[in-house]
Amino acid sequence: MAGRIPESFIDDLVAATDIVEVIEHYVPLKRAGKEFKACCPFHDEKTPSFTVVPDKQFYHCFGCGAHGSAVGFLMDYANLEFVEAVEELARRAGRDVPREGGGARGPHEDFEPVFMALERANAYFQRQLRRHPQASRAVEYLKGRGLSGRIAAEFQLGFAPPGWDGLLRELGIDDSARATLVRAGLLVERDGDRPYDRFRDRIIFPIHDVKGRVAGFGARIIDSGEPKYLNSPETPVFQKGRGLYGLWRARRAGRSPARLLVVEGYMDVVALAQSGIDYAVATLGTAATEAHVQRLFRAVNDVVFCFDGDEAGRRAAWRAAENTLPSMKAGRYARFLFLPEGEDPDSLVRTEGRQVFESRLGDALPLSRFLFDRLATGIDPGTPEGDARFVEDFRPHVERVPAGAYRRQLVSRIGELYAARVPAGPYRRQIETWFDALSRDDSPEGLGRLGNRIHAHTRRLQGSGSPATRAARMLLHEPSLAAEAVDPELLRRAGVADADLLAHLIEILRARPDLKTAGLVEHHRQHEWFRRIERLSHSEPELSDPDLLRREFVHCLRWVTDQARHHRARRRLDELKNRHPSELNDAERRELTELTARKRR
Ligand code: UTP
Ligand code: MN
Repeated sequence: MAGRIPESFIDDLVAATDIVEVIEHYVPLKRAGKEFKACCPFHDEKTPSFTVVPDKQFYHCFGCGAHGSAVGFLMDYANLEFVEAVEELARRAGRDVPREGGGARGPHEDFEPVFMALERANAYFQRQLRRHPQASRAVEYLKGRGLSGRIAAEFQLGFAPPGWDGLLRELGIDDSARATLVRAGLLVERDGDRPYDRFRDRIIFPIHDVKGRVAGFGARIIDSGEPKYLNSPETPVFQKGRGLYGLWRARRAGRSPARLLVVEGYMDVVALAQSGIDYAVATLGTAATEAHVQRLFRAVNDVVFCFDGDEAGRRAAWRAAENTLPSMKAGRYARFLFLPEGEDPDSLVRTEGRQVFESRLGDALPLSRFLFDRLATGIDPGTPEGDARFVEDFRPHVERVPAGAYRRQLVSRIGELYAARVPAGPYRRQIETWFDALSRDDSPEGLGRLGNRIHAHTRRLQGSGSPATRAARMLLHEPSLAAEAVDPELLRRAGVADADLLAHLIEILRARPDLKTAGLVEHHRQHEWFRRIERLSHSEPELSDPDLLRREFVHCLRWVTDQARHHRARRRLDELKNRHPSELNDAERRELTELTARKRR
């Protein structure tokens, strides 16, 4: 693989590029004083709010907030990856792209032979589908699945004939050609033996990159057998975690679909196109990755992910949903469509036709709804532990969404959905206010505050007492928590109510880890603290969820040990202050300064 592009090269290239020229190539610009204006290519508008500022070499849209440099424009508008955008600018500037470690070899030099070999192989496979004496099985199979010759030709479907060396003999004319075919993933070479064709007796689906170049192939067995599909291996120009089958075709020749439908299989994409739904794309046998999602949202603002209604489909959908979060912003829509169990888009669209199938898209769940349903599963809203758990689970997901209008909408929507499940009453109104405040302040601190408010509420409901009392109560209910505990001596020094009791219980449980609640109480029958211990052990347990309980316990202990440290620092500070400065040695003087500063903090 080629190395990294040095940053200095990118800086120079961007400095040498005129952003107006780059954008004008795609969007007609009108001069307005020192700037240029146009109707924004990133959202629908009638009056131009898209501005290109040559002095600053950036563009900005006052309508939708789109913003960036020439590189950003090529990525967002022309749907290029970062490296491709840099290559494109370099090509315009007539420069080669240097690679770190790899000398000055440009990627064109690098990959051109591989792309050429793939293109030739593609033509070869298509020829075989038309002419090879054994191609009729493949043709019959495709017809049997309802595909017309036209759609097969549009997708450039091909046939890899049986035998080990059809492609090898046709294209592997010399050592260098064979080496390139191996690099392109078309030939398999084992231990220096003679290479052989990777794809044999299969129907070929070429996979194009965003520029329309063939980057790899999927190859289906005819009828049935294992493995059903063979795919190109990872090569310098083919990465399964990024590629989207059908994307180039859906956007080719200036077409810009309003939405993309993400399905699971090659055959789904082709069958949908056959029925007139020509905006479907498929991942290459993996769940949708973040790279996929970025690419999808560079092409459209509305992405519908389509899954089987079974458990595997739900899991894949959840992974896709998690991977959409970093790409979400206002104006973008991610939706999730679940098909009836046992059906896939191919089977459905063939039985029910385009219109009925498209009407299903209206049932797709918005990301917020899907996220909520999933996070609220198994949770009892309006109970302290349900609320605490929900916020704990919800928070890391929200934190992955870039701050901004979309995140505020998401929080507010999820808050609505959550509050609607809390029994009506003052607490529901409370929850509504909290989420509402959060949707106006969507900083990570805001999220933390929501968690704290709910925790505080939980404590008011069930966990009365100081953190030391609460920790002691938790220990009595769940003695195994003693394993989490810290130095009992440190706890004793905290000088807060029940810190002694807490330290005492930890000591006992360390010596007698076998004691359960009843045994622990009995153990103290003769003890001066017996009544207190008995009473605490009879009060309601704080939380029944073991994870939350453990977390709360650790929180409480931390609070107590912090108190102990403050207490100790305060005493030491008083002691040092009470001595005459001349009595202090250097170390003590430094300590005094440090302690004074800490107290102020
Ligand atoms: P499917 O089994 O749903 O395939 O796998 P399909 O495209 O609908 O094919 P038909 O309808 O059975 O002909 C979904 C995707 O998973 C990958 C392929 O990308 C396939 O399109 N896959 C599946 C493989 O890579 N290898 C396999 O053996 C199976
Ligand atoms: Mn299928």
